[in-house]
Amino acid sequence: MAEVIIVKNESAAGELVARSIRALIVGKLDAVLGLATGSTPSPIYRALARSFMERPIDVSRVRGFALDEYVGMPAEHPQSYRAVITREVVEPLGLTPGNIHVPNGDLSTIQTAGLDYEHAIVEAGGVDVQILGIGRTGHLGFNEPGSSFASTTRVKTLTEATRADNARFFDSPADVPVQCITQGLGTILRARHLILLALGQTKADAIAAAVEGPITASQPGSAIQFHAHVTVIVDEAAASKL
Ligand code: GLP
Repeated sequence: MAEVIIVKNESAAGELVARSIRALIVGKLDAVLGLATGSTPSPIYRALARSFMERPIDVSRVRGFALDEYVGMPAEHPQSYRAVITREVVEPLGLTPGNIHVPNGDLSTIQTAGLDYEHAIVEAGGVDVQILGIGRTGHLGFNEPGSSFASTTRVKTLTEATRADNARFFDSPADVPVQCITQGLGTILRARHLILLALGQTKADAIAAAVEGPITASQPGSAIQFHAHVTVIVDEAAASKL
């Protein structure tokens, strides 16, 4: 059973995770972080940036792997996950850009991009701590319902629900890409520690299904039940159906 921690608000959630990541880096200067996008993890990155500013530590060797990326979107596009990770994580935390990897959604190399990414994670020695958000559909990364628990990094088609949720980041809903490249559930499960963060009522069903529901491919979040070291951090609203 996952360890579930209920926090007061998003800043308490951010502080809590930031403290544990800071401690990880202090003990392992070349720690490998699994980075997530979406709005949920932002308080973690903000708290970490504050902590590094107030009490600097050497983060030059920290490495990172993002969960996912849109396919066919130029890396310079402000909503590409490469751009989001650079803006919200690499720059504010002062990480070394060359140490931070994002799946390559470029169409010209898409056939081999998944395997290349898996190799890069293995070469780095695996992910020490994977930060996760969860979608309304229960998706982790972009592993939508139906994804295999053994899946590795590959191209997937986004569900209409996820495209609608992510439309807020784009000028028009039609601009949301149709495909993505995402770490698989199998990839995610190989990280040594999973920290799943969820805030707000809209995540209550997905959290209940992930933590307490049957393990089923229709609820990708339920994959966390296979993992021996999972911390779920939720506010009261996201915990309301547990
Ligand atoms: C996106 C990301 C996921 C994220 C989810 C929830 O689709 N690919 O990694 O967990 O949305 O996003 P939010 O945290 O903004 O609710």
